[in-house]
Amino acid sequence: MRRSAEMQGAGSSAVRLLLLSCCVCAAAGYPFRTPLDLDVTPRVTVLSSGLQGCRRFQSSAANYSTMLLEADSERLYFGARGAVIALNASDISASSALTIEWEASPEQKRQCLLKGKDNKTECFNHIRFLQRFNSTHLYMCGTNAFRPLCAYIDEERFVMSSQPEEGRDKCPYGPTTGYTALIIDQQMYTASQYEFRSFPDIRRNSPSPTLKTEDAPTRWLNEADFVGSALVRESVSSSTGDDDKIYYFFTEKSQEQTTTYSHSRVARVARVCKGDRGGRLTLQKRWTSFLKARLTCSLPEYDFHFNMLRSVFVMPGRTPQDTLFYGIFGLEWKNVKASAVCRFSLTEVQEAFQGPYMENQDSGSKWKEYTGKIPDPRPGSCITDSLRARDINISTSLPDDVLNFVRRHPLMSQQVQPTDKRPLLFRRTTDYTHMAVHTIQGLDGLTYHILYMGTDEGWLHKAVEIEGQLHIIEEFQIFEEPQPVNNLLLSEKQMSVYVGSPSGVVQLPLSNCQRYTSCYDCIFARDPHCAWNGAHCVDVMAQTNRSTLIQDIQQGSRGCENTQEDVMVRSRSVRVGDDVLLQCELSSNLATPVWTLDGSELQGYGLHSGFRTGTDGLLIIEARQDQSGLYTCYAVENKIKREPSHPTRPLSSPTQICSPPRNMEAMYLSLITILGGLCVVLTVVLVYVGFCLRVGNRGKYSLRAAASAYPNNKRQNRNRKQHRNSAHMELKTISSHCNGNGICNGGSKQHNGEIQDGGFLQIVPGEAHLTPNKEPPPPAPPLPPTPQHSSPECVFPNGLSATLPSVLRRMNGNNYVLLRQSESENTSPLCYSFAEELNRMLEKRKHTQLTPRPDESSV
Ligand SMILES: *[C@@H]1O[C@H](CO)[C@@H](O)[C@H](O)[C@H]1NC(C)=O
Ligand SMILES: *[C@@H]1O[C@H](CO)[C@@H](O)[C@H](O)[C@H]1NC(C)=O
Ligand SMILES: *[C@@H]1O[C@H](CO)[C@@H](O)[C@H](O)[C@H]1NC(C)=O
Ligand SMILES: *[C@@H]1O[C@H](CO)[C@@H](O)[C@H](O)[C@H]1NC(C)=O
Ligand SMILES: *[C@@H]1O[C@H](CO)[C@@H](O)[C@H](O)[C@H]1NC(C)=O
Ligand SMILES: *[C@@H]1O[C@H](CO)[C@@H](O)[C@H](O)[C@H]1NC(C)=O
Repeated sequence: MRRSAEMQGAGSSAVRLLLLSCCVCAAAGYPFRTPLDLDVTPRVTVLSSGLQGCRRFQSSAANYSTMLLEADSERLYFGARGAVIALNASDISASSALTIEWEASPEQKRQCLLKGKDNKTECFNHIRFLQRFNSTHLYMCGTNAFRPLCAYIDEERFVMSSQPEEGRDKCPYGPTTGYTALIIDQQMYTASQYEFRSFPDIRRNSPSPTLKTEDAPTRWLNEADFVGSALVRESVSSSTGDDDKIYYFFTEKSQEQTTTYSHSRVARVARVCKGDRGGRLTLQKRWTSFLKARLTCSLPEYDFHFNMLRSVFVMPGRTPQDTLFYGIFGLEWKNVKASAVCRFSLTEVQEAFQGPYMENQDSGSKWKEYTGKIPDPRPGSCITDSLRARDINISTSLPDDVLNFVRRHPLMSQQVQPTDKRPLLFRRTTDYTHMAVHTIQGLDGLTYHILYMGTDEGWLHKAVEIEGQLHIIEEFQIFEEPQPVNNLLLSEKQMSVYVGSPSGVVQLPLSNCQRYTSCYDCIFARDPHCAWNGAHCVDVMAQTNRSTLIQDIQQGSRGCENTQEDVMVRSRSVRVGDDVLLQCELSSNLATPVWTLDGSELQGYGLHSGFRTGTDGLLIIEARQDQSGLYTCYAVENKIKREPSHPTRPLSSPTQICSPPRNMEAMYLSLITILGGLCVVLTVVLVYVGFCLRVGNRGKYSLRAAASAYPNNKRQNRNRKQHRNSAHMELKTISSHCNGNGICNGGSKQHNGEIQDGGFLQIVPGEAHLTPNKEPPPPAPPLPPTPQHSSPECVFPNGLSATLPSVLRRMNGNNYVLLRQSESENTSPLCYSFAEELNRMLEKRKHTQLTPRPDESSV
């Protein structure tokens, strides 16, 4: 009961927030309610400028899509466009990279062009396959400008060891065709729709009997798009003398009839037995063990069915029976971004293959559950001891009626349900492309699964599973240029995760605990890699004596009760009637700010209170004298109220930094505001745009606090002066000091003292200086394409009510825009375009990690 009530509540607030934050979509008929309560927000956002310990490899080659890690030789192989590259896995940026150039011949490219293919993407040799063949050789296949070839690589010398051979039956023709392949006992098992016109199939290639899936009369695969395959050695310690099996994962056109809903495409798992030799007469050179079942990943209460399987990660268990399959699923609507992660156990999959079959009576009708008699031995099963006892020791000895049955009934009726019958993670606005998972033991003795997931825009999310839910610990912008993560691989030995993309390869450490500078930050992160040792947040794996470490993965709140945190106090003065933004940047996206004025909590942020809160600060609208005083910002996270600690970048980080560090993440604390003749404010900026005044508009303010401001100080001062001259506005900074006892020393040391003197503030005179934004908004998870039209309500998902004349929002994670728009919007074209430009920027960032959180606009 309670649950359903909650759900309804969530549903209606979801609709409301959806309207607020995404009215455009709603207007365009966004097709469903959004379970916001399930939408997981990454706790910490790290932009590419703040990445630590990351190493990059780039070369003249593009499209790094296939990856092979050899743990023994510590080599990381990459198949790219026209090249195979061998890197040092412990440091991919080391200069020891070896390359085999393998580009399609000019003649082949010409023919590719003649076939009508795109000579900017398709008419190249894209390496689609790269795996170990035997102890001395690797094997690779490339599309070779629409005429696939394969070749051996002599690993030691890292050269092609022979002339390339025909690859038509092993490799797809195009770079993006769904494809998966394995080499098992020196035989290649591939699945793809090789050529554009051919049917998709799953096949085993020579030398021993080539087997394929059946095309006609009953197609076993229906426009299948393959994403992965895995060998599970089920013969190991099998009590029934079972065979090893190969599992295939794909999305295909739906065949079955269901009463509740119909989908044009569905996710599937299929399997074949490794020892399959085909039938003698029936199913000659065809699999006798091909069976498939549907994989479901849905939120039925919201009618969300994630039918598109994008990728699979196979997680080996202690025994083959404990194998787990992680899948990334998406929605069928191409223009709606959303992802779900579901996990399936091998046991569940096996159960489906043991269950009832589906059938279709006459071709053309939909498939229904088969209820008739099932021949013996069970169709589609591998050769086991019980069959051998009946003298059936090879698939060619299977009786005809069994083979005929399996030929007509490849589809199972039972659907494979994920763990807990629901996704581990659901996320709007993000399309995950690939993932990798590993396990680690927490200090509480429990084993945790940690997932690294890459997005289609070059971000990496790190998440930990806690009680069936994923908590996203961090999101990293690993590529400044938005681009899909093509591949992801992790190595516990190197403690690294490797990411391949169109432009290059990145190596990131599995954890970066130094990022957390306070005990609470370290605990709140709930990162099983990290623990607090009393002074620092440290990597658990590197500690020998773990008895005194503090970690709380389960709740993320306990253990820091006796620690102290620094506080920084700043002062500013403003005039009565000005708008003031007091920043309180929370390092966590999951924290909510609570503000006090002279020790008592601010009551209500209603329209007439004169206050507004956003995720990044307190806005005082038309400041009054009685609003003077000492403001304090507390961050509330996991029900713990604490003052946010300030500087986040550790002084002596031993790690290497990808690009020049910029202090993007500083946080602030307390602010003193005295209004009137002398008003004092902390952490603030103010702008008054005189230009608009002069042209008769009532006035627009733009205010921007740049995060890494100290190099800009000179310019700021200049701007400020100009500003004072041109605009009739006063920004008075009376003082800016530490509060006596020197507790802000840490801050001043780290930031050369400048930060406290308005270092964070940059004053941008409205339209004049807003032009090309020097730091374009990062490619954070955007949204379903939206029409250009935007009504005013669209712009306030941040907790500011729609009627408020000001817009405060978080821009690049650390930039702030305070835009005050007048009622009269029609005067100066310059002012207008300024507003428009801001709106466009806001629009872009609208659906980012800032999931609307409960606030007065939604409750
Ligand atoms: C890889 O790099 C590490 C550290 O830079 C070095 O110790 C190691 O010898 C290198 N390995 C190879 C195969 O070059
Ligand atoms: C692709 O082909 C067109 C002619 O159809 C040619 O003009 C163009 O230069 C080619 N581009 C590349 C990258 O080869
Ligand atoms: C591995 O395979 C290659 C290519 O067939 C062959 O030349 C080589 O001798 C094989 N190596 C071993 C150790 O069998
Ligand atoms: C199957 O059994 C026959 C004799 O019953 C034997 O000749 C053959 O080698 C066996 N095949 C396999 C694959 O074990
Ligand atoms: C290859 O990389 C380029 C950018 O480097 C990208 O535009 C293109 O779409 C990529 N092609 C494929 C097949 O991924
Ligand atoms: C670990 O550290 C604690 C406290 O410093 C100490 O009491 C304990 O003996 C240490 N254990 C080991 C195994 O060193």
